[in-house]
Amino acid sequence: MAGLLDRLRFGRRLAAATRGQLEIAVLRSGLDAGLFEALKEPKGPAELADALELELDLSAAWLRAAHAHGLLDLREGKYRPSAYVDWLHEGADAAGARAMVGQVTLSYTPTLARLPSLLKGEERPVFGQDREEAIRVAEGSRVTEKVAFRALHRIPGVSAARRILDIGCGAGSYLAELLGRTRDALGTGVEVDPAVAERARQRLRVTEVSRRAQIVEGDFLEVDLPRDAFDLVLLNNNLHYFDAEDRPRLLARAYESLAASGVLAIQTPSISDSATARAMGARATMATFDLFLRSHANLHGLPLLDELDAELRAVGFQKLGRRPIVPGGMALYVWARKGREP
Ligand SMILES: C[S@@+](CC[C@H](N)C(=O)[O-])C[C@H]1O[C@@H](n2cnc3c(N)ncnc32)[C@H](O)[C@@H]1O
Repeated sequence: MAGLLDRLRFGRRLAAATRGQLEIAVLRSGLDAGLFEALKEPKGPAELADALELELDLSAAWLRAAHAHGLLDLREGKYRPSAYVDWLHEGADAAGARAMVGQVTLSYTPTLARLPSLLKGEERPVFGQDREEAIRVAEGSRVTEKVAFRALHRIPGVSAARRILDIGCGAGSYLAELLGRTRDALGTGVEVDPAVAERARQRLRVTEVSRRAQIVEGDFLEVDLPRDAFDLVLLNNNLHYFDAEDRPRLLARAYESLAASGVLAIQTPSISDSATARAMGARATMATFDLFLRSHANLHGLPLLDELDAELRAVGFQKLGRRPIVPGGMALYVWARKGREP
């Protein structure tokens, strides 16, 4: 039996975990119902209820809860979003961060709640059936985008790349950014989900690079693409869409599409056992993400990095390297260069 000190410690730990879940629920309701948006002009409970035609008692209780979670600041009886919510709402990383909040509440929590039956062999759900989820996932991986770009540009050969192929390009933000930076670069994105492919086309139009880019709709393993044609092939956040049998084919196709000395850059999370990963809680987050992925019929676990290196060498890559994006394995680039050049 746990002693008194342990019971206090365990109780505090459980309370913190519960608080985290509740905070996400309050946060999401505020984002989805436009409450934070309305509070950009600071308001008291009655003003908020009036402005959005809300139940007064519920909106007052929501304001109290959001304030208690540090999501709102309160001054002279009026609430306004905290700096954290401002970042989520309209900061540079807002789209990705908000999609992440949606993903935790709408996908991770309900899927993991099914684990007792899934563990006993219940048929695993097919990921991506729901259009909204596919879009959320593509947007959610943008949360690491800014830091990922810095890491990407430190990979030898990336800055000089002019012909770029983005496998599983999602909402097209990597292509848009790379083409925006380099005036004479040309891009091809391959995206299997039609709704997401349309998002990518829109993004390329909005960022005014669509004349130099095309989005090919289809499965990368099946679509027709030129060989020896690209200086940079990106495989960002989608290695886990390919099972162990398909991965050699995927890497071989990526290799074939690269020009001599071209670079393949694979962005992926991994489960790291390092001290940093433990200290940051990244090991727990990534191990649970891996569990979420495996709980679907059509998604597969996170890669073991040494195995991935061996698979890259097996298809012909000779020079390999790694670049951390977020410490602790939450995100990193594994890169591989075709040919013998350093
Ligand atoms: C998690 S999202 C990442 C999107 C983007 N690469 C990023 O990092 O922001 C993965 C994307 O890969 C796409 N995808 C998965 N399997 C694919 C395949 N076989 N061929 C083309 N696209 C694929 C999915 O539809 C999804 O949009």
